[in-house]
Amino acid sequence: MQHISSKLIHGIPDNSDNINHRSLKTPIYETASFDFETTEEMESAFKGESDAFTYSRITNPTVSELEKRLKLFGGAAHCLCVSSGMAAISNVFVTLCASGDNIITSKYLFGNTWSFFAKTLKSFGVEARFVDMEDTKALHQHIDKNTRAIFLELPTNPQLILFDVKSIAAIAQQHNIPLVVDNTVLTPYLFNCSNYGVDIEVFSNTKFISGGATSIGGAILVHNSEKWSHIPKLTQDYQKWGSQAFYKRLYKEIFRNLGACLSPNSAYLQLLGLETITLRIDKVCDNTLAVTNFLANHPNVKQTNSPLLPDSTYHDRANELTGGKTGCLINFELENKTTCYRFMDALKMIRRGTNFCDNKSMIIHPASTIYWDLTVSEKEEMRISEGMIRLSVGLENVQDIIDDINQALKHC
Ligand SMILES: Cc1ncc(COP(=O)(O)O)c(C=O)c1O
Repeated sequence: MQHISSKLIHGIPDNSDNINHRSLKTPIYETASFDFETTEEMESAFKGESDAFTYSRITNPTVSELEKRLKLFGGAAHCLCVSSGMAAISNVFVTLCASGDNIITSKYLFGNTWSFFAKTLKSFGVEARFVDMEDTKALHQHIDKNTRAIFLELPTNPQLILFDVKSIAAIAQQHNIPLVVDNTVLTPYLFNCSNYGVDIEVFSNTKFISGGATSIGGAILVHNSEKWSHIPKLTQDYQKWGSQAFYKRLYKEIFRNLGACLSPNSAYLQLLGLETITLRIDKVCDNTLAVTNFLANHPNVKQTNSPLLPDSTYHDRANELTGGKTGCLINFELENKTTCYRFMDALKMIRRGTNFCDNKSMIIHPASTIYWDLTVSEKEEMRISEGMIRLSVGLENVQDIIDDINQALKHC
């Protein structure tokens, strides 16, 4: 059987190669609409009886090729690409939840995900219960008859906590609740959700998938499940579609009505990204290990947090879940905010910017940027300290990255 790196380069060859003049790259179909030879064909396309393309908010050939390839990547039953990682998360929860429902989520979250749960979903009558997922007992206690999903990031961004996903999946199974995992940081290359009972996997394509942060995008990978029969909002869909109920409702109603479609041009860039993704992740993981070890041994660094370090609480779990490769993120602590700013401003090659999995190394002070509008106690709850820096290690020569950090640390 072919390795995933080969599959991501070739996809599934089909006759469209002839239609596309045997082009070795998927063409960019930058069109809003598609025409039909007959009115009958148009009717059957609208009824979903054929897979003809109708309108690019709903389906588009370039986006569709990316969906096929991501489906292969994650070993999922369905894939739907959307305009951003946040669109992936919001489409999932609008499909699962109605007013009066609740979800259980890890309290360690990317800032906009936290805000979507704490503010946006709340305003529609859906309660997010923020739980420390390391305490599986607490998880049990928060679940009730209105719980529609358990959500977590693996590892959490930026704390880099790796949860015991096997035990959490077992709890989700016991209660017939879908488990939703944000696999942006690892991608299916480093963590295979389909082996761990995950029902829905979401990514921000903006990171590794886009080929080093070339474009914004997101994806929802759905694994077939009988759990949909326990979601009141999906009862009728389950009667009609069985284990595909979630995907059908998402694709046929929610995604179309919210309108957060991926542009064909971004899909093209993300297809190019998939051709080199395994190569880039392998290299970035090697770089990240070397930079982590350097930071961990530097006297001016108060603490380095990475599951790669043998004394990390999450080291054994990283070996078990990801084969010991955890992507490009490291977080480390300097004395205080002023020291962080002095260090960051002294960097010569590493860029001050948000995002991660860029080919360029990039650095951010989370407390004053991504989490700037959280209260002090909210930040404490989420383990976002004033001395914390998040570094996204890039693909540059690793000695150049270390040299830049080393010279900047002299300013601390
Ligand atoms: C873990 C995680 N999930 C989701 C998102 C949202 O992705 P996007 O910016 O593509 O909407 C981000 C963004 O940084 C993220 O870090």
